[in-house]
Amino acid sequence: MNRKERVLVSRTIAVPADTNPWGDIFGGWILSLMDIAAGTVAARLARGSIATKAITDVIFDLPIFVGDEVSVYSEIEKIGNTSITLNVFVTIKRKGEDSEQDAVRGTFVMVALNEHRRPRPVREKWSEIQEKCDGK
Ligand SMILES: CC(C)(COP(=O)(O)OP(=O)(O)OC[C@H]1O[C@@H](n2cnc3c(N)ncnc32)[C@H](O)[C@@H]1OP(=O)(O)O)[C@@H](O)C(=O)NCCC(=O)NCCS
Repeated sequence: MNRKERVLVSRTIAVPADTNPWGDIFGGWILSLMDIAAGTVAARLARGSIATKAITDVIFDLPIFVGDEVSVYSEIEKIGNTSITLNVFVTIKRKGEDSEQDAVRGTFVMVALNEHRRPRPVREKWSEIQEKCDGK
């Protein structure tokens, strides 16, 4: 996994149960998908429990509608001592269209936790990740 490589983490279809009273898809549902994606990647790198510490710079550029194919990508921005910062991108593919468009983005800071739910060092270091990539 390269630092700035966008990796597809999940893909789903927006359905009526995910809409707000005005018929658009709930922002909270989209944030949930993004949080799960960031958590999935961070938990793998941390090899254990993680918690969301901060969500910043979330921008909703396009509305998401029922029937849109929703894809969530993440890229690692930074690995700190106990935290992993990821940029998360949501793209949509509208019904009948061939290409994906960027719809939502945000930055997630995930903290690795020990058995007492306190921050612990992230085990996976950049140097190790780069070594694995170089060894591919
Ligand atoms: C996650 C938690 C254990 C961190 O505890 P803490 O006392 O803030 O820990 P620290 O101050 O040691 O910071 C831990 C890391 O987060 C980073 N951090 C702390 N506050 C931050 C902020 N406001 N924005 C970005 N990063 C932040 C620190 O820089 C540190 O990273 P580093 O070690 O890589 O430098 C604690 O805040 C917590 O339990 N929060 C609730 C988590 C939760 O319920 N999330 C939602 C469900 S998962």
